[in-house]
Amino acid sequence: MGVPIYNFKELHNEELRTEAKRRISEIIDKNAFVEGEYNVLFEKEFAQMQQAKHCLLVANGTDAIEIALQAYDIGHGDKVGIPTISFFATAEAVITQGATPVFIDVDAETGLMDPASLKRVLKEHKLKAIIPVHIYGMPAPIEELEAICRPLNIKIVEDSAQGQGGYLKNGPIGSSNNLTTFSFYPTKNLAAFGDAGAILTQDDNLAEKIKSIRNHGRSPNGHILSGKNSRCDSIQAAVLHLKLRKITQQNEQRKQIAKKYHEKLKNLEIGLLPAKYLETSSWHLYPIRMANREQKYALQQFLKAKEIGSALFYEKSLPEERPLMNAAGEKQVGPQFAAQCICLPLNPFLTSDDINTVCDAIKEFLASR
Ligand SMILES: Cc1ncc(COP(=O)(O)O)c(C=O)c1O
Repeated sequence: MGVPIYNFKELHNEELRTEAKRRISEIIDKNAFVEGEYNVLFEKEFAQMQQAKHCLLVANGTDAIEIALQAYDIGHGDKVGIPTISFFATAEAVITQGATPVFIDVDAETGLMDPASLKRVLKEHKLKAIIPVHIYGMPAPIEELEAICRPLNIKIVEDSAQGQGGYLKNGPIGSSNNLTTFSFYPTKNLAAFGDAGAILTQDDNLAEKIKSIRNHGRSPNGHILSGKNSRCDSIQAAVLHLKLRKITQQNEQRKQIAKKYHEKLKNLEIGLLPAKYLETSSWHLYPIRMANREQKYALQQFLKAKEIGSALFYEKSLPEERPLMNAAGEKQVGPQFAAQCICLPLNPFLTSDDINTVCDAIKEFLASR
């Protein structure tokens, strides 16, 4: 018996399926397929949970970033700073908006945007916004980045596709004065039965603008801007609202699992995320760093032979991806980080035996080298 990276069977147990099916039937009966009652309920409760004034559901996490940029009036001719480590969508949203991505390098231990790199990049590039990513669930150094950006009126969009359940210095991710975007893709901590996303804000005017952008620029008085169709359908909202019941407990389980991994792996010849993130990460993923790419692939094969899941997030850093190869900025550390990084199984349903199985396999692998 192996250890899976995800566990949809436990996540979607009989209790959840029964209530989800009841809610879907209710939506069919009411013909309320888009922006229905569950959208309103979810937006209210999720905003409360993350200590934001407004939550606006949208169709997916990529749209959430695009819409956040549009809400800040960022588009053609503007430069936007993005980290060298993230999922491609962070860069793609900038390009889709017509803006130009500029790389800011990451911390070599965490993959999080490095404020020192931002300072250096700003000497050469006038940025209109930056998109720090709460990668793997760890909070990006938002307070330090804000201290650099505020005096220069640089907007911040926090890409929290992986950060639901994580904590900034003064509250949950989503509680800052920036626009914070989420993805509810099925593998995320809080996950829909398909695609969905959200934007959190404390600002009434931005909330109104985002509502309009996500629905073709509509307002009560006609179309006030050119937006897009990024409405969230009622079935996804109903599932997300249902999953709010268990999410705090599930995120706590993730944290306890991360702590066990950390304890068992901390004295080995591998790179772990710094212990200070044990309390503040959402533990969406559990990345470790191997000596080099070759050792990373060898470990993946070794784990696979024992039916232990793993994932290469990310096989390449963003500057190594073809559409981004000519983008300017700092890009030394990202490629090195991507070469070393491999993610171990992490889902709320892993048992102590599962964790022992994974850690023993890693020890066996290192002893065999
Ligand atoms: C860091 C990051 N940003 C953005 C996205 C895009 O979200 P979606 O797939 O919902 O469009 C993801 C999703 O995988 C992500 O991990």
